[in-house]
Amino acid sequence: MFDPYTIRKDFPIFERKVNGHEIIYFDNAATSQKPLQVIDAVKDFYKKHNANVHRGLHTLSQEASELYEEAHNEVAKFINANSMEEIVFTKNTTEAINLVAYSWGLHKLGEGDEVLTTLMEHHSNIVPWEILSKIKRFKVKYVNVKEDGTLDYESLENLVTRKTKLITVTHASNVTGAINNISKISKLAHDNNAIIVVDGAQSVPHMPVDVKRLDIDFLAFSGHKMLAPTGIGVLYAKKELLEKMEPFIGGGDMIRSVKYDKAKGCMIEWHHLPWKFEAGTPNVCSAIGLTEAIRYLKRLGMENVQEHERQLTQYTLKLLQKDEKISLYGPSDTSIKCGIISFNIKNMDYNDVALLLDNFGIMVRSGYHCAEPLHQRLSIKGSVRASFYIYNTKEEVEKFVDVLKMIEDVG
Ligand code: ALA
Repeated sequence: MFDPYTIRKDFPIFERKVNGHEIIYFDNAATSQKPLQVIDAVKDFYKKHNANVHRGLHTLSQEASELYEEAHNEVAKFINANSMEEIVFTKNTTEAINLVAYSWGLHKLGEGDEVLTTLMEHHSNIVPWEILSKIKRFKVKYVNVKEDGTLDYESLENLVTRKTKLITVTHASNVTGAINNISKISKLAHDNNAIIVVDGAQSVPHMPVDVKRLDIDFLAFSGHKMLAPTGIGVLYAKKELLEKMEPFIGGGDMIRSVKYDKAKGCMIEWHHLPWKFEAGTPNVCSAIGLTEAIRYLKRLGMENVQEHERQLTQYTLKLLQKDEKISLYGPSDTSIKCGIISFNIKNMDYNDVALLLDNFGIMVRSGYHCAEPLHQRLSIKGSVRASFYIYNTKEEVEKFVDVLKMIEDVG
């Protein structure tokens, strides 16, 4: 049975108090808290197995390499990839999207081509494409978002032409929680000979994501939003795409051989997948933390994780919708919304609201959440964002709503 009260016991951070209050952590879209199982796995690695990977014949290096490869396998199974060859570890979602931009886009995009992104993207799915478009002279076009924060599929269909080479879209908005219909978008992309890149930063930690069922070409996500340590991210890519792509960063471990010939110069042969895309010493301990994080989530069941967050979201919306002083953004239908609620209190600054909440031990994010175009589209400068995860409870939601009411009264 899914019980957030039992789950909380695995998270030592909830033993401490902030400003004299028990912590209510509603900033999960920024990063999640870590369970003991993950903390212990990282500690255990440094205590017993620490060595560099793929660089030694000695026992410790062999053990570290095995654990590091096991992490790739665990991720592959979690998202239903064909094999670990399709799983590249990066620093985070941002780096994974940049990898696609530079290893795929730099070689495949040029003048006359178009990349479609949307107005609901996090900056990490806008800025790399804008930077690259200046170098390669292709156009970046923006799919509209409706007033209710959902994607305007009509605008998307109108923007797709023969020039479209790539559609890049978030699976779930980090501001409104709106969940996009990725099957529909991937079909549209493939019917038009384009590829699809999905930013899964806010979906993979919170719901079942099956790359085959959704027919995704590239999927980017971060470990730290799904119980793992910071510094480990994932790029999933179809093998046939990765095989044809050039490396992103060059260095050790991503080559099979580097030979120097006086006449011919340097001749380099790339390593096989996924190592061709993982140059330099990787973040081994965080990868091992990610293995444990995935095992933890799998024990809970991703359907149960999603249902728990859906119930919390529905309950919070029900309580806040009654309040005339609160403006809510994004869809209210929780079948197309993940556990993210952004709002403003009338005549109050979003940063002031966040600071006042912190006085009561309640952690939320305020500002434009690295999604300025979406806030522009919603005609607001910023918002307060509450985002849920497996350890949040209805009781916390009630306390949060009570404190908001007190804040409204002083505001
Ligand atoms: N992308 C993270 C957020 O939305 C950091 O807060």
